[in-house]
Amino acid sequence: MYSEKVMDHFNNPRNVGEIEDASGVGTVGNAKCGDIMRIYLDIDDNQIIRDCKFKTFGCGAAVATSSMATELVKGKSIQEAMEVTNKAVMEALDGLPPVKVHCSLLAEEAIHAALWDYAEKHHIRIEGLTKPKSDIHEGEEEEKEEY
Ligand code: FES
Repeated sequence: MYSEKVMDHFNNPRNVGEIEDASGVGTVGNAKCGDIMRIYLDIDDNQIIRDCKFKTFGCGAAVATSSMATELVKGKSIQEAMEVTNKAVMEALDGLPPVKVHCSLLAEEAIHAALWDYAEKHHIRIEGLTKPKSDIHEGEEEEKEEY
């Protein structure tokens, strides 16, 4: 049912963890399945993503897609990172079963949310980036969930 790449990224997820003083942090969730993903970006002065880490509280496909998404954006410019869509993540993983496509959407949204956070902090506009919709933590920051 799952490709070897999905299983590999699920069993050995890359870039798990958090980045202290990250340039941008994005947390998104899917209320339907209850899964949550958080992406941390370390972006240098030339707007290159030096490092990227994630924490995912979710299904195996969500872990695999976040792992692959972090690999895909690492070393890229902000504009290149905008091209890391859920489709690109799925292709890099050799596909996902149809019921798991939404898990890859979470990865795209989490990257966008982290980029949005970076853009807000630096008062810049990132071409093509709109305010992420499914940031379920909006207005709930005080709760400080840990996972
Ligand atoms: Fe919801 Fe995978 S089942 S993110």
